[in-house]
Amino acid sequence: MKKNYHFIYIICVLLISSTIISCKHKEDDYHNIKDAIDAKSKNYDGISISSEEFIGDINTIEITEGEHTFLIPERKSQIKSYACTECHTKDLDQMQNLKDSKKAHWDISINHADDKTMNCITCHNAKKIDDLTSITGTSIDFNNSYQLCSQCHTRQFEDWKGGAHGKILESWAPPRASMTCVNCHNPHDPHFETKWPDRFNTQKVKERD
Ligand code: HEC
Ligand code: HEC
Ligand code: HEC
Ligand code: HEC
Repeated sequence: MKKNYHFIYIICVLLISSTIISCKHKEDDYHNIKDAIDAKSKNYDGISISSEEFIGDINTIEITEGEHTFLIPERKSQIKSYACTECHTKDLDQMQNLKDSKKAHWDISINHADDKTMNCITCHNAKKIDDLTSITGTSIDFNNSYQLCSQCHTRQFEDWKGGAHGKILESWAPPRASMTCVNCHNPHDPHFETKWPDRFNTQKVKERD
């Protein structure tokens, strides 16, 4: 009985290694993996590979950051209380001083860094409320809110540009589309609880034996 298994095992190893070797030969037609992907995505059995069908009806905008050009979801149409100027017809300080006005944004409280660093107008442009603002006072469009985050979270921003932080939408085939920071992080309360993976408990296994 045991010998038979050995025999089958050897056949399998031979089969697998021969396929690996023959595949390797084909891959050598390309300089590197990226060339292979580029060449194959152009035309695959007459069908071009594209992420477009995965992106579907998500409205996207194209951005270029450094050497990376890719799509991110458009935001403004997704934000409930946009345009802000529908209510913000006066300057912010005048709005805030409205007597007996109910707190308009009662559902927003900041749990992001500490309140010495962070208040509403660290991010929102008090003079032009339909925009965000950089620390130095430059307007940032709500669609480009990642430019707000990148000022303080350089490492995550660099990773994200390269596709390492945050999710690529569905497929590696071009065009590349990535979720933007606020698709995952609530800017007012961005922290996620760390989740530990379930562990395989070797002690329990020993006890069972
Ligand atoms: C439905 C009306 C309405 C809309 C829409 C609205 N606001 Fe307001 N907002 C108010 C009112 C009224 C106040 C003043 C009373 C208060 O402080 O709650 C206010 C106050 C604020 C303040 C000051 C809050 C504070 O605690 O100091 C900020 C910042 C602000 N709004 C940002 C925005 C932004 C950004 C948008 C758009 C994304 C927006 N608002 C859309 C009605 C609105
Ligand atoms: C760390 C930066 C930051 C701070 C601080 C901040 N916001 Fe925001 N806020 C944003 C960004 C970015 C968005 C857009 C998020 C998106 O695209 O969904 C937003 C969205 C909003 C909206 C629209 C939300 C909706 O779903 O309609 C309102 C209203 C708002 N902020 C008010 C405030 C108020 C009031 C404060 C202070 C109490 C505040 N924000 C503090 C970054 C900030
Ligand atoms: C003015 C600087 C500043 C801006 C702008 C800013 N942050 Fe932060 N953020 C901080 C600081 C400071 C902390 C708390 C210290 C830390 O944990 O790194 C923090 C904490 C966080 C955390 C939690 C880190 C943890 O330990 O879990 C996340 C996530 C985050 N920010 C995402 C964002 C996103 C997304 C944006 C853009 C909408 C943004 N931040 C904009 C300064 C900023
Ligand atoms: C697809 C979702 C997604 C996108 C997009 C995304 N993040 Fe995150 N981010 C996460 C998750 C999940 C964590 C928590 C990781 C953990 O706790 O191990 C995280 C963690 C962080 C932290 C905490 C520190 C760390 O590295 O653990 C910061 C700061 C942060 N993100 C900033 C950003 C910024 C800035 C952007 C945009 C340039 C961004 N994120 C885009 C999902 C995302």
